[in-house]
Amino acid sequence: MYKFFFSLMLLGLLTACGNSTSSAPAAEDNSGLSDNPVYKKGLGLIAKSDCLTCHKVDEPLTGPKYRDVANKYGSYSDTIVAHLAKKIISGGTGVWGQIPMIPHPQIAQEDAEAMVKYILLLKK
Ligand code: HEC
Repeated sequence: MYKFFFSLMLLGLLTACGNSTSSAPAAEDNSGLSDNPVYKKGLGLIAKSDCLTCHKVDEPLTGPKYRDVANKYGSYSDTIVAHLAKKIISGGTGVWGQIPMIPHPQIAQEDAEAMVKYILLLKK
């Protein structure tokens, strides 16, 4: 993956011709995903809810990093998506530690599943 970014960057530098931005891609740059409608939908819903007060993609807060959640569950199946969506709605504890995730009864199962699909796309 890193090599992929690197060659993209090289290509960018060559075509930008002299543009001297040599900084590495930002930690939360999920290049290639931002055009994915599943990614956009889930991220949009997450941004509108309270998720980001406890979760970040690459930094543990009260809750686990989304990247770790994605890596733990791996490639997504309907069972995993449905299970994690229920957990978002009902809340729960014990998988990542003793801190509970608060329940989100106001979120529809369908929306919670869209959020989970976004999270699972973050797998590296
Ligand atoms: C008050 C803080 C808090 C908020 C707000 C919160 N979470 Fe969590 N979340 C947690 C904690 C803590 C865990 C770990 C729970 C555990 O160990 O079972 C967790 C776990 C998860 C997991 C993994 C569950 C598992 O069983 O592996 C997912 C997915 C998740 N959160 C998504 C979300 C989404 C989406 C939202 C917004 C709707 C959200 N969280 C809002 C604290 C929070």
